[in-house]
Amino acid sequence: MFDRCWLGILALAGLLSMLAGCGSGKSGGDRAAIGDPKVLYNTHCSKCHAQAGESGGPKLGSSKAPDLTHIGSKPGRDVEWFVKVIRDPNNVLPNAKLMPKFEGTLKDEEIHTLAEYLAGLK
Ligand code: HEC
Repeated sequence: MFDRCWLGILALAGLLSMLAGCGSGKSGGDRAAIGDPKVLYNTHCSKCHAQAGESGGPKLGSSKAPDLTHIGSKPGRDVEWFVKVIRDPNNVLPNAKLMPKFEGTLKDEEIHTLAEYLAGLK
């Protein structure tokens, strides 16, 4: 009788740890989604920077901002530069007026993820 009881407790403990494992697995997945540059881009950038014919999700906008589809091949546009422009466009573009600064809105690691993504758009 006792033995069965213990088995039940063990089974329950196993189930709980599986559930806990499942939960942390899910939040790991969420983190991956947040760290996905395309998700970040579609959420924060594509409402201005999406080009005609590009898929940008529900916020897909006009092409009122510069075309970034080959931005990584422009001279001087490297990861460092993109980090600066995303933090605050006026760091590197003195005449920028329309693009908001993302310092405070995006986490540092998200800014870096986006910067690396843009640098790879050749
Ligand atoms: C409200 C519209 C808007 C949003 C949102 C926006 N941008 Fe911009 N972006 C602009 C405009 C407009 C410019 C041109 C400079 C200006 O006038 O502000 C620009 C310039 C840039 C440039 C410089 C291009 C070059 O080589 O001169 C980069 C890179 C850039 N944006 C990346 C991004 C990224 C990454 C995001 C998302 C985190 C983003 N932008 C969100 C409007 C926007």
